[in-house]
Amino acid sequence: MKQDDFLVNALRNSQEAGLPSIEVSPAQGQFLYFLTKLSGAKRVLEIGTLAGYSTLFFAKGLLDDDSSEVVTLEYDPQIAKVAHKNFEESPYRRKIRLLVGEAKDSLMKLVQENVEPFDIIFIDADKANNPLYLDYSLQLAKTGSLIIADNIIREGEILNENSSDERVIGIQQYLEKIAAESSLESVAIATIGIKGIDGFSLSIVTK
Ligand SMILES: C[S@@+](CC[C@H](N)C(=O)[O-])C[C@H]1O[C@@H](n2cnc3c(N)ncnc32)[C@H](O)[C@@H]1O
Repeated sequence: MKQDDFLVNALRNSQEAGLPSIEVSPAQGQFLYFLTKLSGAKRVLEIGTLAGYSTLFFAKGLLDDDSSEVVTLEYDPQIAKVAHKNFEESPYRRKIRLLVGEAKDSLMKLVQENVEPFDIIFIDADKANNPLYLDYSLQLAKTGSLIIADNIIREGEILNENSSDERVIGIQQYLEKIAAESSLESVAIATIGIKGIDGFSLSIVTK
């Protein structure tokens, strides 16, 4: 798949900075772009920036409107520097707001500031905190918003009831929570590709 130059550039900068290659795959990024474009999203919240590769797919898919933006959360200042460079070198520098700090602190602040609800929320940071991120996401969403969580299959490890991996446990709890939440309708999508076997959960806020 031919990628936009700014996406290729973002991956190159990430690699040169020695960041781990744990971003979405190009095909998964394209899927996120499609979801954004198809839904006509104006506001996207991303929890877990890394070098901003997925952020750029969301930014590309945003509705062409002055008020459209992606807000993305990253706690590591060194990593945030690389993301910032990638955003500056892309056509979307004015469309992306990078908040540096613990995601739970940034989320609490967004709730306290009573910001306009987000159309799409992408949860892709420390998986152990996914249940907490869902609580905040519900406060920052509105009817019709889409909440996406990454890495919900983990090569099938998600089915291991005896796992002691806190990331797996966080995702297991997250999946139980979205299934029990009466204001959500959810579906899981498995993906197979250069990142192995993994997947996204997609939840629509119905009320
Ligand atoms: C899987 S990577 C994000 C990948 C990115 N969404 C992409 O696909 O291009 C997860 C990122 O979340 C950040 N992170 C982990 N724990 C965090 C926390 N508690 N608060 C904010 N960011 C965190 C990590 O530093 C890392 O950069």
